[in-house]
Amino acid sequence: MTLGNDPQMVREQYADESRLTTRSSVWRPTVDGRTPQDVAAVAIAAARPTHLLEVGCGTGAFAERLIAENPTCSIVATDQSARFVELTAARGVHAQVADIMDLPFPDASFDVVVAMWMLYHVPDLDRGVAEVRRVLRPGGTFVAVTNGDDHLAELLIEAGGQPLVTQFSTENGAAALSRHFDDVHQTDLATRAVFPDHASACAYLATFDESLAANLPPFEGDREYAGATSVFVAR
Ligand SMILES: C[S@@+](CC[C@H](N)C(=O)[O-])C[C@H]1O[C@@H](n2cnc3c(N)ncnc32)[C@H](O)[C@@H]1O
Repeated sequence: MTLGNDPQMVREQYADESRLTTRSSVWRPTVDGRTPQDVAAVAIAAARPTHLLEVGCGTGAFAERLIAENPTCSIVATDQSARFVELTAARGVHAQVADIMDLPFPDASFDVVVAMWMLYHVPDLDRGVAEVRRVLRPGGTFVAVTNGDDHLAELLIEAGGQPLVTQFSTENGAAALSRHFDDVHQTDLATRAVFPDHASACAYLATFDESLAANLPPFEGDREYAGATSVFVAR
């Protein structure tokens, strides 16, 4: 099993926060101190948003940050998981359940839309990006973050798996966005996953594939593995 865009698998994966929280905890910035969230937040602030939509908001941490950094902007966070909407609302963020493929907003409602690590899960990617384009006003900005084919590839191969190739990645994301946006800019970041011990690496793998966790050869001490993440800014 891999973490792709099968609707039932995606719903099970995010029925609660346990798996996402385990995965998020291992990520560290690039060696020069940049994070994908920082790069995305700078692009968002540069667009001077007044009405912003986040799709696939997860636990709401990034929406909460955006409220603090853009205090005059009205922000709506959405996710298809009711549990994640509940967690996001508990942070004081206006949040509601919504599927990116069928957004419950009129045309041209927002000047910025944000999608952090979620487009690889959407059953019909073109339909999801078309919905983003529809709810964005003309000239609005879409910021999307995703991972590349090399993301944690070394760890996956050591555990007997394969690199995770998705429908929206460092390699193919610009082409997917170019079908709906005239101008697409991409920033690639060499992120790093740090595991304090073998058990923590197994716990990470088990969040999406128990058999990979069972197959990871033992190691002593901590380990660092390379990530590959991209931030797209489309207009
Ligand atoms: C990898 S998590 C990322 C969460 C958050 N953006 C973050 O960066 O931590 C993917 C999120 O997208 C949501 N999601 C998946 N498919 C979706 C869809 N079709 N419409 C809306 N949300 C979706 C999941 O419920 C989950 O919260």
